[in-house]
Amino acid sequence: MAATVYLAEAPSNIAFLKYWGKADAAAQWPANDSLSMTLRNARTETSVQRSAQSEFYFNGHKLSSQDPFAQKAMRHLAFLFDMLEETPIHLRIETKNTFPDSCGIASSASGMAALTLATVACLLEAPSWDSLTEQGISRAQLASWARKGSGSACRSFWGGFVAWEAAAGPASQRAYPLFPAEHWRLCDILLLISIAPKIISSSQGHLTAWDSPLFLPRLSGLPTRKRAMLEALATQDLSQLGPLLEQEALEMHSIMLSVEPPICYLTADTSAWIVQVRRWRQEEGLEVYFTIDAGPNLHLICEPAAKPALLSRLAQANAQWLEDEVGTGPTLCTRR
Ligand code: DP6
Repeated sequence: MAATVYLAEAPSNIAFLKYWGKADAAAQWPANDSLSMTLRNARTETSVQRSAQSEFYFNGHKLSSQDPFAQKAMRHLAFLFDMLEETPIHLRIETKNTFPDSCGIASSASGMAALTLATVACLLEAPSWDSLTEQGISRAQLASWARKGSGSACRSFWGGFVAWEAAAGPASQRAYPLFPAEHWRLCDILLLISIAPKIISSSQGHLTAWDSPLFLPRLSGLPTRKRAMLEALATQDLSQLGPLLEQEALEMHSIMLSVEPPICYLTADTSAWIVQVRRWRQEEGLEVYFTIDAGPNLHLICEPAAKPALLSRLAQANAQWLEDEVGTGPTLCTRR
């Protein structure tokens, strides 16, 4: 009889308050709290089934066991076997993203969330969320396990707007939902400025944060910015949230730029687009704000009413972009 296939689909997320720097790298304990919006279109689909040999497919291609991506996944599987006190077994894993590779959307968040959910479901033979709950596995537990593979993945376990609290230590850190997607229909238009591979991975970049002379001042200012962001999210006030998004993204990049050697993800085109977006806002009243991840591309955040005007300006400028918006959390099902 063919093995049951466990299928998980998990969303990516865009951080509004950024996770940059770890208080304890081995424990994946972040240096600060972060806040994010779950995305609707940028998702990873992962299937896991018991098999005679370990196999890993990415976007339809079989990866060798030496491939860094396959190795990262294998390390995470070993961790999950350990957590569930299961003897390691061979699994066939297939994973694919609904968004193009290297487009500036971090696939590690959605990828690690989907891999964690599908693997745990397969090992426990749990065909649904209800079945996982009955077996004592909560969403928060899965989020905490996924974070060991990639920190930002823990925020991908809920839809809408999500917080990840660093708390007093790795044991008490936790991710939890703030508001569901229906609370505020924000759009994220990802402006593709460059899709060249990253100069340095986020994981390596995190480790340099403490070397920046700006990092401690950043940490002391973050609680105030977090409070203001939470208030803006609660009251759906984009004119309050927007400037905070921009300050936060530029502050994270100033940490990256002020280490030796500097990590420079931004390009001259990123700066030119920042100026353009601000000009549209200030001179033409287009209510759009940017945030940036560990890359050169701008995530343009706006309400649905501003989207047509934004897209027509981007089209006139011959820009390339991907459309996304606030979305829902991961799903789980099975196939025979
Ligand atoms: C800039 O979660 O990719 O996107 O925990 O080392 O896997 P690891 O890092 P990762 O870092 C994400 C950094 C960021 C900001 C954010 O998503 O909060």
